[in-house]
Amino acid sequence: MWTIPIINGPNLNLTGIREIEIYGSESFEEYFLLLKNDLPNVKFSYHQSNHEGALVDIIQSFRLTADALIINPGAYTHTSVALRDALSSVDFPIAEVHISSVRNRETFRQTSMIQDVCYFQLSGYGLESYRMACLRLLEYLNATASSPVS
Ligand code: DQA
Repeated sequence: MWTIPIINGPNLNLTGIREIEIYGSESFEEYFLLLKNDLPNVKFSYHQSNHEGALVDIIQSFRLTADALIINPGAYTHTSVALRDALSSVDFPIAEVHISSVRNRETFRQTSMIQDVCYFQLSGYGLESYRMACLRLLEYLNATASSPVS
């Protein structure tokens, strides 16, 4: 069973409520329940913080225990060297995920501080971006390593 934490950054706790024309009307918590049901062989956990340093702490806490990581750093994507450095310190594959299509929005959203330390970036499929990222990570994990027994 693979361990894949999902980490969301600032304002993503308001998904389903804020800017629904961009981020949709479903909350992440609702979506997460469906995701867990659909992929019962993945050990998921969900973490969200509005604080940069807290996100660094969460990433560090998984350094030795995760097999892969899905992160949507929200606005910190475009600004945070600290998150980039934290992500650089882990040895497993990281998926950078966005709900909206960042490359088709404002110019400042087209820069990602973390993209080149991640295995891939996936954006623009609404909350389904998370499932797609997870499937791609599983493909990678299943192809490159043997699953831990548990
Ligand atoms: C986002 C895109 C970011 O530019 C924005 O600041 C967010 C959400 C997304 O999921 O589309 O908060 O990461």
